[in-house]
Amino acid sequence: MSKKRKLVLYIAKSIDGYIATKDESLEWLFNVEGEGDNGYSDFYETVDTVLIGKKTYDWIVKHDAGEFPYINKECYVFTRTSIKDTEDVKFVNDDIVSLINKLKNQEGRNIWIVGGGELLQYFVKEKLVDEIILTVAPTIIGKGIPLFKEGDYQLDLSLKGTRIFNQFVELHYVVKK
Ligand SMILES: NC(=O)c1ccc[n+]([C@@H]2O[C@H](COP(=O)([O-])OP(=O)(O)OC[C@H]3O[C@@H](n4cnc5c(N)ncnc54)[C@H](OP(=O)(O)O)[C@@H]3O)[C@@H](O)[C@H]2O)c1
Repeated sequence: MSKKRKLVLYIAKSIDGYIATKDESLEWLFNVEGEGDNGYSDFYETVDTVLIGKKTYDWIVKHDAGEFPYINKECYVFTRTSIKDTEDVKFVNDDIVSLINKLKNQEGRNIWIVGGGELLQYFVKEKLVDEIILTVAPTIIGKGIPLFKEGDYQLDLSLKGTRIFNQFVELHYVVKK
């Protein structure tokens, strides 16, 4: 029996549901004391494809001074403009649903949606996300870039597991279809 690849949101958020401050700082997250890499390497091994919103991509390029962090994965960056691919990423501005369905039907490991919130809103509305893994920081930042933007959607989830990495709590959900 073939095992279909899953599209997994794996992301860190503040207790009040933000993924970055309004000026895109993640200091509040990096200042939290975790444990090891908080399960990141193990998760990273489970995926071979990475989906990124253009603003998150720009953030990564600006802040990761060294090489692009996902070089050994197939990376798609979503934008509404036309941008030439680089050796690390393919820029996508056409039909997202068809692309995701095509990817899900290919052989391979799972697909990671990195974020951010704006791209995610589209994926949530279209019910493309299969699992959600949230790493919750013990921080309330009051305002910022929301993980889930306001919109006309509802997803029902089922809790698959929880883990603690020192000050972080990881919540793992399966999206009910
Ligand atoms: N806490 C975490 O773990 C975490 C994880 C990921 C990101 N972040 C942070 O989140 C921030 C960015 O999040 P964000 O919500 O502002 O932006 P985002 O979702 O990363 O990117 C938004 C951009 O993606 C493109 N886009 C969005 N929806 C699209 C669609 N349906 N079709 C085609 N293109 C689409 C558009 O690009 P164009 O404008 O080019 O058309 C849009 O401006 C960054 O600061 C990043 O560091 C934090």
